[in-house]
Amino acid sequence: KRQSEPVSLDETSGRWQVFGYRDGVTVATDAKRFSNDLSAFIPDHEELKTFTKGNFQAMDDPRHRQMRSLVSQGFTPKFVQGLAPRIEQVATELLDRIRDQGRDRIDLVGDLAHPLPVTVIAEVMGLPVADRHLFRKWADALLVDNGVDALFSEEGVAAMAPSIREMNQYLLSHVREYRASDKAGLIRALVAAETDGRRLDDQEIVGFLALLLIAGHLTTSTMFTNAILCLDENPGAMKEIRADRGLIPDMLEEVLRYRSPLVWLDRRATEDVELGGKRIPEGSLVSVSLVSVGRDESEFKDPDTFDIHREQIRHLAFGMGIHFCLGAPLARMEVRIALNAMLDRYDDFRIPTDEPIVFHDPKDFNGTKYLPL
Ligand code: HEM
Repeated sequence: KRQSEPVSLDETSGRWQVFGYRDGVTVATDAKRFSNDLSAFIPDHEELKTFTKGNFQAMDDPRHRQMRSLVSQGFTPKFVQGLAPRIEQVATELLDRIRDQGRDRIDLVGDLAHPLPVTVIAEVMGLPVADRHLFRKWADALLVDNGVDALFSEEGVAAMAPSIREMNQYLLSHVREYRASDKAGLIRALVAAETDGRRLDDQEIVGFLALLLIAGHLTTSTMFTNAILCLDENPGAMKEIRADRGLIPDMLEEVLRYRSPLVWLDRRATEDVELGGKRIPEGSLVSVSLVSVGRDESEFKDPDTFDIHREQIRHLAFGMGIHFCLGAPLARMEVRIALNAMLDRYDDFRIPTDEPIVFHDPKDFNGTKYLPL
């Protein structure tokens, strides 16, 4: 499709799909012509509206900038760097547990890739880590279980509603608890934060927290398992990073190009737009295929080759422009630490050939649900 019709209308969903890198950059970064406010496509649902009131990913500037700046003050490079020792400790504890259970075969997703980021994000936010099974359930319900178009249909929203309701109640009760106490942490900081000369209300804070909680772990665990898939398929690269751990950051950028965890990046056209030789009418839903743009031959030489020595891998896996992923430094650090911990612990690890890998539906999410190792 990228070669035959790089911008095309998908008749079934009504989406305009964008497959080429250059056009993808335009859609992601031209915030004037491509809005993040997708409410026009989402069924009117009171609970959903309340729940997403503080979700700044779905806002345009200037409101987006005001709201984002409140959280980004808490997500400084120094703050993220300061989490490194704790992330190392959590990774070590998870690997110790596997060792103590005497297992020589694990599910990388359930044993390490998921518990690590979910523990980190829960601790950053000041939520009980013991509730992490709930966070996974909600992230699955909102991101994967109900399909990529769930948010845009009555049935999809109805299927997500119980999780939305549960998550809203859960987060609301934590925000109220923080309001009534003097416990420190991100929630406390948000309770005290001001934007536009006014305090955030409880629902806005819930929207913030839900965004961080949902965006912050399934994506990161998928980046990690995708890195292991790439290394398993490329024993030469595995050998090189074992010999020189300094190659790991570049290798991870190549993983993000080669296997973007998120499949689609969505926008709404605010005016008629010419793109890829097509005229996209105002008000259309426009979706960039992050999986395709990373493999665009006009941007990347030999795009289907996993090459850890590429220069300047400007992938779109974290987006680009004003909505660039707020958690990218955290995700990169978590995966680097987890991979280093595995390399320290094991002389060798492989994906066995006698047990199937379970993948998500590739139109919804680009990664594994279950990865035997
Ligand atoms: C935004 C991907 C990890 C929080 C984004 C966007 C992408 C993305 C593509 C851009 C959305 C857009 O342009 O509309 C990823 C991937 C991750 C990851 C692939 C892991 C490998 C994280 C983590 C956090 C996080 C760990 C939080 C701790 C956010 C937030 C936004 C965002 C808050 C919205 C930013 C805005 O609209 O200004 N992410 N993300 N992400 N991400 Fe991530």
